[in-house]
Amino acid sequence: MVNVSYDPWPPAPISTERLLLRASRPSDRERFQKLFGSAEVGAYVGGPQPADELERLPEVPGQRPGVFVVDLDGVMIGLVMLERRNLGPADRVRPENGEVDLGYLFLPEFWGMGFAAEACTAALTWFDEVFPGEPVVLCTQTANQRSLSLATRLGFVEVQRYQKFGSEQWFGVRAAASAPPGR
Ligand SMILES: CC(C)(COP(=O)(O)OP(=O)(O)OC[C@H]1O[C@@H](n2cnc3c(N)ncnc32)[C@H](O)[C@@H]1OP(=O)(O)O)[C@@H](O)C(=O)NCCC(=O)NCCS
Repeated sequence: MVNVSYDPWPPAPISTERLLLRASRPSDRERFQKLFGSAEVGAYVGGPQPADELERLPEVPGQRPGVFVVDLDGVMIGLVMLERRNLGPADRVRPENGEVDLGYLFLPEFWGMGFAAEACTAALTWFDEVFPGEPVVLCTQTANQRSLSLATRLGFVEVQRYQKFGSEQWFGVRAAASAPPGR
């Protein structure tokens, strides 16, 4: 196991068949407000952010290690996050804690077209190349069917379910890609 440290950040932009994964920039701010203010997007992740909080977003939101803006034809359509979290005991797969957690949020008009799967696959491929052998974890409400289907499609397998925030949570782990010989 290595310690995941994104230094330097961001990496070079990652291109997929239809998308670009890149760092956030000032012109994304309006899309961040739309994403965080959407009741549909927030349905299983704590609800939409109130207008005054959205107004207080920084000039360049999401500018932190592990956060990829997903860009379609020059415009942000969602976010993929691979961030180290200090998870609670129920969420741990390694004793020292600090697993990297996959998160994803897409604007509803871009659901149902495989964009989230395409972006997450690219981000995980990049992660495996930079941190071979590191597992990635994921937590989602079991009621969030779209998220659960995506997690399963990405290769996450259930570790356990538990109750938190009054809802059943699904906690899964994606087995680490094995390190190539000599690394
Ligand atoms: C979770 C979320 C990212 C899933 O989005 P999604 O678009 O359903 O996910 P995918 O990219 O896997 O797309 C799958 C759908 O695209 C379809 N699709 C179309 N073209 C496709 C292609 N080229 N490749 C793959 N799937 C394709 C699939 O058939 C599937 O359709 P279905 O939902 O009608 O069965 C989205 O619902 C979301 O942002 N939710 C709000 C935030 C959230 O709850 N995040 C979870 C936090 S833990």
